[in-house]
Amino acid sequence: MRSLIDILDLTTEEIDGLIETAADIAANPAKYAEVCKGKKLATLFFEPSTRTRLSFEAAMYELGGNVLGFSEPGGSSTAKGESVSDTVRTVSCYADIIAMRHPKEGAPLVASMKASVPIINAGDGGHNHPTQTLTDLFTIMNEKGRFDNLTVGLCGDLKFGRTVHSLIGALSRYANVHFVLISPNELMLPEYMKSEVLEKKGLSYEETTDLEAVMPKLDILYMTRVQRERFFNEADYIRLKDSYILTTKKLENAKQDLTIMHPLPRVNEISVEVDDDPRACYFKQVLNGKYIRMALIMKLLGLKAEV
Ligand code: CP
Repeated sequence: MRSLIDILDLTTEEIDGLIETAADIAANPAKYAEVCKGKKLATLFFEPSTRTRLSFEAAMYELGGNVLGFSEPGGSSTAKGESVSDTVRTVSCYADIIAMRHPKEGAPLVASMKASVPIINAGDGGHNHPTQTLTDLFTIMNEKGRFDNLTVGLCGDLKFGRTVHSLIGALSRYANVHFVLISPNELMLPEYMKSEVLEKKGLSYEETTDLEAVMPKLDILYMTRVQRERFFNEADYIRLKDSYILTTKKLENAKQDLTIMHPLPRVNEISVEVDDDPRACYFKQVLNGKYIRMALIMKLLGLKAEV
């Protein structure tokens, strides 16, 4: 039995295979319509979500399976004090696979040690978000056709942004990727990510507070929201929340083939006028997320489409 807790649980060959399957699902959805017939996915969301939870649910329905679960812990026995371990042992009796989001870093890993079905980490605190990273990789492959030889700007809340941490981990395995880390000083990438990932692997990176200065060199610009829910102090959040607002004017010096990404939800960090720019890919990411999660559910359940 296989869970997905960290993006590095998957080899690069396995990621390539998931992307290939996701592309085939997008092109031939009818072929996959009954792959999960008789199977159930449980979505256990201890934190709010729109895209991750609903894309998992849509994915399972489009594979012919069924879905159960909760979207906030107040409606479950968590509110009575039940532990994560007991919750997943219980849900393992009802479902074939579990997608779980939790505010505590490491909770899905603990769950995977107790569950008797595969656990998918759907985001754990400020730590990791591997299925967003699969979504991002699928999008990068669609837009750029490669993962190597890219200059990738990551902008916003690099301290608490779990999607950034997972994406750096994933891209660190490819050749000649240069990371441009753009953030206010208070929201820089954590030291452990720099020492344990970037420096340990000898990766090329630079840090800056100035988005416009680095814009011309970027192949990918990955914008992120300042993560209000991770701040201890509301005043700090208010001071930092609008540090970066991407506008059409700020894109004047960008490459013509720049890929603009954002895991969403956005608050103010991309002006809505940018949505009409053909380089804006964040709503493509949303749709890609459904296809790649379909491919992942199939892989973890050991299922294939009939040929
Ligand atoms: N990208 C992402 O995780 O979005 P949700 O919080 O809406 O699931």
